[in-house]
Amino acid sequence: MSLLSAARAALRVYAAGAAVILAQLLRRCLGGFAEPAFPPQPERVALVTGGTDGIGYATAKRLARLGMTVIIAGNNKPRAHEAVKKIKQETLNNKVEFLYCDLASLRSIRQCVQTFKKKEMPLHVLVNNAGVMMVPQRNTVDGFEEHFGLNYLGHFLLTNLLLDTLKESGRPGRTARVVTVSSATHYVGKLDLDNLHGSRGYSPHAAYAQSKLALVLFSYHLQALLAAQGCPVTANVADPGVVDTDLYKHVFWGTRLVKKLFSWWLFKTPEEGSWTSVYAAVTPELEGVGGRYLYNEKETRSLEVTYNLKLQRQLWATSCQMTGVPDVTRDVFSR
Ligand SMILES: NC(=O)c1ccc[n+]([C@@H]2O[C@H](COP(=O)([O-])OP(=O)(O)OC[C@H]3O[C@@H](n4cnc5c(N)ncnc54)[C@H](OP(=O)(O)O)[C@@H]3O)[C@@H](O)[C@H]2O)c1
Repeated sequence: MSLLSAARAALRVYAAGAAVILAQLLRRCLGGFAEPAFPPQPERVALVTGGTDGIGYATAKRLARLGMTVIIAGNNKPRAHEAVKKIKQETLNNKVEFLYCDLASLRSIRQCVQTFKKKEMPLHVLVNNAGVMMVPQRNTVDGFEEHFGLNYLGHFLLTNLLLDTLKESGRPGRTARVVTVSSATHYVGKLDLDNLHGSRGYSPHAAYAQSKLALVLFSYHLQALLAAQGCPVTANVADPGVVDTDLYKHVFWGTRLVKKLFSWWLFKTPEEGSWTSVYAAVTPELEGVGGRYLYNEKETRSLEVTYNLKLQRQLWATSCQMTGVPDVTRDVFSR
């Protein structure tokens, strides 16, 4: 990628962020964000990736408050134990635990799923939340560009390995749910299937946006697969808005300064940022409904190309090759 293309990608990402910030500001001026109410969820089990911090922590806490058994899947043991302790104390729900899962390692994801399955627990909600943003060019353990490998492929594998448990746990009228956290940056993302490793030039902005676009395509194709198989599982995408979290630690210092000074005004709090994920995970309004892009707890349209079935299939097939997951969609959709 040339310097000019990298600069264009950065401008596009900043423009997408600025548009969301303006909308959030307008909403604050018009009365702010109202915390939605959700019904209690006893007997339900949720697994939240990246539940140690930011939006994931707020999501895990809210689900625990609703009475769910919550498993935080993360790669930082001390922070995870601290998060579990705090959530237990604050929600008085003792059914919160930690499962080690480094999403930057396919082996670790497989081990995590194995450990989870040994517990013989159901799984009603999977929240694919963890992520990194605009990190310098580096690779995951398996040699994938980090945004694509961790944000997207890690969740692709995790979801596929947990699908049988989700299918067994859902039932008609009370489906299991896969919630995948994307971002407004997907609107400016481009999927470059020939340069997924970033080897033909790297832009951290383009790489982040691409990973978030891939998650939307994946989620829609997953929903199509589940519907075609008649499974009691749905898949939706949650867009949290622009939220005051540590995700911004790798962005340009000027942006970090603006965030430090004005985030209280311009950004959502992590709790506000978690509402759409929690909405997707539990609201009765979405019972049996999948394949939606949700923003501010409402359905909205994602980038036009995300509805392109051919691209969804290509990405799914490539992801299967990269992660070693058998591609069942070929049989299902060729029937
Ligand atoms: N903040 C925003 O404005 C915004 C906007 C749109 C979308 N999002 C999306 O929201 C999601 C959550 O982001 P956030 O804002 O809450 O950021 P955050 O506070 O930085 O949280 C990211 C989480 O991901 C975890 N994580 C990072 N690397 C991991 C790995 N290798 N394995 C397992 N977990 C890992 C982190 O755990 P450790 O730190 O313990 O490693 C942390 O819990 C991301 O998918 C992000 O793209 C955020």
